[in-house]
Amino acid sequence: MKERETLKVNNLGHLEIGGCDTTELVAKYGTPLYVMDEEHIRKICRSYTEVLSKKYPDSLVCYASKAFSTKAIYAICKSESLGADVVSAGELLTAISANMSGENLYFHGNGKTPYELQLAVDNNVHAVVVDSEFEIDLLDFICAHARKKIGVMVRVNPGIDAHTHKFIQTTKVDSKFGFSIADGTAEQIIKKIREKNNLEFLGIHCHIGSQIFELTPFELAVEKMTDFIVTLNKSGIVVKELNLGGGYGVHYTDEDRPLEPCQYVETIVDKLNECIAVKKIKAPRLILEPGRSIVGEAGITLYTVGAVKEIKDVKKYVSVNGGMFDNPRYALYEAKYDVALANRMLDEKTEKVTVAGKCCESGDMLAVDVLLPPARPGDVLAVFTTGAYNYSMASNYNRNLVPPVVLVNGGESEYIVRPQSYEDLMARDEIPSWIKK
Ligand code: LLP
Repeated sequence: MKERETLKVNNLGHLEIGGCDTTELVAKYGTPLYVMDEEHIRKICRSYTEVLSKKYPDSLVCYASKAFSTKAIYAICKSESLGADVVSAGELLTAISANMSGENLYFHGNGKTPYELQLAVDNNVHAVVVDSEFEIDLLDFICAHARKKIGVMVRVNPGIDAHTHKFIQTTKVDSKFGFSIADGTAEQIIKKIREKNNLEFLGIHCHIGSQIFELTPFELAVEKMTDFIVTLNKSGIVVKELNLGGGYGVHYTDEDRPLEPCQYVETIVDKLNECIAVKKIKAPRLILEPGRSIVGEAGITLYTVGAVKEIKDVKKYVSVNGGMFDNPRYALYEAKYDVALANRMLDEKTEKVTVAGKCCESGDMLAVDVLLPPARPGDVLAVFTTGAYNYSMASNYNRNLVPPVVLVNGGESEYIVRPQSYEDLMARDEIPSWIKK
């Protein structure tokens, strides 16, 4: 556990987040429960915006809302002067319903549907980040009917291999995302966009991967993207905006050593300013799209320990009342997490155990071979750094309910996502008439 003012052990030996004793949160809201620390989210937002306002004012931080998309997070981002990156009708409509202005939204995705493009146009999003030729024709057609012109960015693939888990690498040469700069496709696509009456080419976008700790891949991205701007300028194409995506790593376990968010921004901005001067290009508006680094460490998940099962001389399994339906990241990526017994934080961690989820799937684990005090049924188990890509990737697998989300701040707590009920779960099920008979 990476302690901070809003995540620490209180004088009762309990885990406290946002001034709330986690055992009291459990008594009030039950488990499993996602808890998000508002102050920490705001602190990270500010660490991005403060550096940018000093060093590169013509910029916007767009929260990559795939990490955690709820009305409250868009409201927080809006109040911190962030925009948002959305990738689906659901994310777009949630952002709009939280009063985010279309002007601060970027619509991404390699497979946007006609309906989603129509929504983007109807809601006047600042830019659609196009990722296919099909989409360009379709968007132009939709705009023509709506008698509107829309801003367009192009997702390019700068061919950078950021060292991370292979499933979350997105800009290797073989990628479903982006148009290659190297083989000339990206430039060709941009030329095509400029021929469309209803599309305004704004600039280029890349996202080089996720959970990256090193600075070099980001510097390299700036280098390659500004080289590409030079190439485009030579063809008379002006690049007004440069969107460098997200990907800054967070602390899951002590193996992870991320830099402070502001260090990533500082490095990127310094490199960009250097490239602008050396390559003599017009300074573009800079967009950054952090997701995980804004909400990841702000979130924890609380569970109740159930069965504790020992396989003699092999392993001890501690089962909890959650699992891959609220956090599929171990099942998907063998992701590692730090855990603790939130009601017994001062007890010595003397046992190596594996925390197992309750789904009927052998890969349903939350943490493998981690140290805990001897766990007993009824203990509260906390998993740290679950704010990103947990709730947003949750499911109802095995007909389990997606846990509610509570926002905490200064000792107060309130639902930002209310609990699902079994009625909700069955609300859209039907039995066909011929079976009912
Ligand atoms: N911008 C674009 C275009 C992206 O595709 C992503 C993430 C981001 C920004 C934000 O990246 P971040 O700052 O969060 O690293 N489900 C995976 C993560 C997939 C990330 C996909 N794209 C996980 O649980 O690790």
